[in-house]
Amino acid sequence: MNTKVIRIEERQGAEAAIREAGEIIRAGGLVAFPTETVYGLGGDALNPASSRKIYEAKGRPSDNPLIVHIADMEALAAIVKGVPETAKKLAEAFWPGPLTMILEKSELVPRETTGGLDTVAVRMPSDKVALAFIRAAGGYVAAPSANRSGRPSPTCASYVAQDLDGRADMILDGGDATLGLESTIVDLTVKPPAILRPGFITGEMLRQTLGRVEEDVTLFSADSGQAPKAPGMKYRHYAPEGELVIVRGPAEAVTAYIRGELAGGRESGKKTGVIATDETVAMYEADVLRSVGKRTDAAAAARGLYRILREFDDEGVELIYSESFDGEGVSQAVMNRLLKAAGHRVINV
Ligand code: TXA
Ligand code: MG
Repeated sequence: MNTKVIRIEERQGAEAAIREAGEIIRAGGLVAFPTETVYGLGGDALNPASSRKIYEAKGRPSDNPLIVHIADMEALAAIVKGVPETAKKLAEAFWPGPLTMILEKSELVPRETTGGLDTVAVRMPSDKVALAFIRAAGGYVAAPSANRSGRPSPTCASYVAQDLDGRADMILDGGDATLGLESTIVDLTVKPPAILRPGFITGEMLRQTLGRVEEDVTLFSADSGQAPKAPGMKYRHYAPEGELVIVRGPAEAVTAYIRGELAGGRESGKKTGVIATDETVAMYEADVLRSVGKRTDAAAAARGLYRILREFDDEGVELIYSESFDGEGVSQAVMNRLLKAAGHRVINV
């Protein structure tokens, strides 16, 4: 298969490209498209054959359900068994945007799309290209992140091409994703509602709208002894090829520890990398040094994290140390992904 990459410019040609992308989906094909979080690999959510194709293209286990992307509230009503009050409130507050809701599915949604579950994940993205594309495609686009299974989610079209060239019919290039981490997932089929994946819509924001909201205990700990509630969260994800270790503790102790380890790594001839902040990056000597931005700027860390993880792979880094980004709000989403990328290897200093 030849993957056609089309850059969506402000005006010229955008409409025709989006129309063509929509036709590909209606005909059962796959199109990667930009969203404000990360790029998605889209297929017709109501067509079981399209969902099977998505799993195959990604190399993804077929028990890991897809998110159905919609562009209006009528579409929500059609794919779920009744829209609960909680969903209406959240949609009012956060859609279109980086929030995915889990609801009971209607008969319209095939089990191939939901990984065999009776529930369905639904999101209305805010990205303009995404919304126009979903409409052109018939209103229901099933899309996981557009990476090969196990790789970091792609934040730009060239990363999609790295992973999926020859595996999708088209890539709509809408530039860099503005947020850079996947949507928050909240399960509305349980009481109280539960956060299955942290993101830009934080627990605090959800509580302001819904009252009590719980967090899946598996989000931040490796050893809770429980399976995560979002099937996808059980897989080792986002993992760079090198060994990634997170170092946690007072700032000075962290830099001192990492400096020592880097010296050891160099002696053993390993290619080393560091994930640091603007405040600390000058203190390290490593083959590949990256700052996620100012320590206080969690949004910048979110935007840059997946690009940095991919760059370590591109450079063949074998040993990576990361500072820890503990905190409230968006920091929690960053730490959740970083912990998964590190396979929960954390050293407390
Ligand atoms: O920001 C995003 O959400 C991006 C963009 C493309 O929209 N999409 C994305 O999809 O991150 P994906 O497939 O990489 O992650 C979806 C997660 C998986 O962990 C999956 O297990 C979970 O959502 N999920 C989907 N349907 C579910 C369901 N019915 N119940 C529980 N978890 C579900
Ligand atoms: Mg993914």
